Amino acid sequence: MTYSIGTDIDYAARCLQQGRLVAFATETVYGLGANALDAQAVARIFAAKNRPRFDPLIVHIADRSWLPRLVTSWPARAGELANRFWPGPLTLVVPKTDLIPDLVTSGLPTVGIRMPDHPQALRLLTRADMPVAAPSANPFGRVSPTCAQHVADSLGDRVDYILDGGRCAVGIESTVLQIVDDRVVLLRHGGVSLERIESAIGPVDTPTRVTTHPEEAAPAPGMAPQHYAPRTPLMVVTAWSDVTGAPEERLGVITLAPPPVPHRFAAIEVLSSRGDLTEAAANLFAAMRRLDALSLDRIVAVAVPNHALGRAINDRLTRAASRP
Ligand code: TXA
Ligand code: MG
Repeated sequence: MTYSIGTDIDYAARCLQQGRLVAFATETVYGLGANALDAQAVARIFAAKNRPRFDPLIVHIADRSWLPRLVTSWPARAGELANRFWPGPLTLVVPKTDLIPDLVTSGLPTVGIRMPDHPQALRLLTRADMPVAAPSANPFGRVSPTCAQHVADSLGDRVDYILDGGRCAVGIESTVLQIVDDRVVLLRHGGVSLERIESAIGPVDTPTRVTTHPEEAAPAPGMAPQHYAPRTPLMVVTAWSDVTGAPEERLGVITLAPPPVPHRFAAIEVLSSRGDLTEAAANLFAAMRRLDALSLDRIVAVAVPNHALGRAINDRLTRAASRP
């Protein structure tokens, strides 16, 4: 596999200006970026990822002065949320202008925008002087990358440049909120917890409906049940006593706390030895990848407490477990 990896922000910015693809670090996961205003460049993202066209992309900005060109309305709630959480792992879905090609938003009249909290990403966006459309830099449906090597491993020769920004501190994708007038609807759990959002702006609508037909699902596209999946079959359990299976089966486990019967497992990934959900989120995808590389028969994931970033962790585990 040939690929180019390094820390040359100027070169990365030139690639973007030429309509090429650059993988870059954000605080959440690595993104596969292209000029959001260039439909041909954006089409290359879908091709590189094998991403279905009904799954809209997030547009990244370093500077709010872009907003008037990108959105037709910026509701007061959006302003409050951006003031509180930008730069940071929060995507705001608002009505888009015609400047954004329909391909970016899969034909939706809205666009998801976020300002990433990573100094190198912000410098890249400023240097390139454009909004950058970027999904996570992994083949569609697979585990998101949290370091440059993950991108090289799975997409290496399909990317023009991988800008190495180290390990992603948050490790799980952004929270996605749609703003409809003065209502705020949660579309995806992520790096900013629901508790923090609600303490900033009050109650948020949380649709419980999980999409089974993504192509019909305008309200929450991209929330297909199977997503973030390792190749090894993965099951989620809520208690150690739920771990079943033949004794000869080679099991790996992803867990917050060490297992009571460790010899049952061929490999163990403890996400945070101090039980910290933020640290666990940062370790989740790398742990999935390490277990996936071991040719295990099955991965067992023990659900974590369902609060703070635990909600986003459980969401990703559940999606990793779904099989169509
Ligand atoms: O942290 C992140 O959000 C990372 C980094 C690179 O910024 N990006 C990311 O992108 O996770 P991606 O493509 O893997 O997820 C984008 C998701 C879509 O699948 C969809 O659920 C939601 O964001 N989304 C984007 N635009 C939307 C829109 N106009 N309406 C509804 N949902 C949208
Ligand atoms: Mg993704």
